[in-house]
Amino acid sequence: MKIGICPGSFDPVTLGHIDIIERATKIFDKVIVAVLNNPSKQTSFTVQERIGLMQRATAHIPQVKVDFFEGLLADYTRLCGGAAIVRGLRAVSDFEYEFQMALTNQKLNKNMETVFLTSNSDNMFLSSSVVKDIARFGGDISTLVPTSILKDIQLRLCNKNNGMEEDVNESGNC
Ligand code: PNS
Repeated sequence: MKIGICPGSFDPVTLGHIDIIERATKIFDKVIVAVLNNPSKQTSFTVQERIGLMQRATAHIPQVKVDFFEGLLADYTRLCGGAAIVRGLRAVSDFEYEFQMALTNQKLNKNMETVFLTSNSDNMFLSSSVVKDIARFGGDISTLVPTSILKDIQLRLCNKNNGMEEDVNESGNC
């Protein structure tokens, strides 16, 4: 059985991630979505929350299992018998970082391959950071994240006064 690993922070998962995960299931028999738990990195959602959101967002894809990992991705991939990791490429600007990561991972685990899938053109601009920025300022993220988790993301990120002082003019919409 060929296992593909889709690793990431997923803080939070976007429709861009889901597109890549769905397409990975056409290449691999089983896809493990591996959520990074890095306590030294500040995230908007805890690792348990990111796993829960991912489980709900991928509930319609039977070949997907959601897991988490700590430490090196190369070690995790070896441990769960992954044939390759799968990463989405949105634009040329992603390439340098992804190329460095792929080469580093191959150095650490010589059996580890990285498969790049080009992002769907609708999602070229999409990232978790973009979603968070829009949500924080009350913008519409309904076409950017899975419908099943939209409310959870809005509840966490949509802050009525946008984090500004109480006496500053309130312009929040949510
Ligand atoms: O969604 P992201 O933040 O772009 O995902 C990056 C991720 C989690 C794939 C990457 O940071 C990672 O693999 N971290 C684990 C540490 C590691 O293995 N580092 C060496 C390879 S650069």
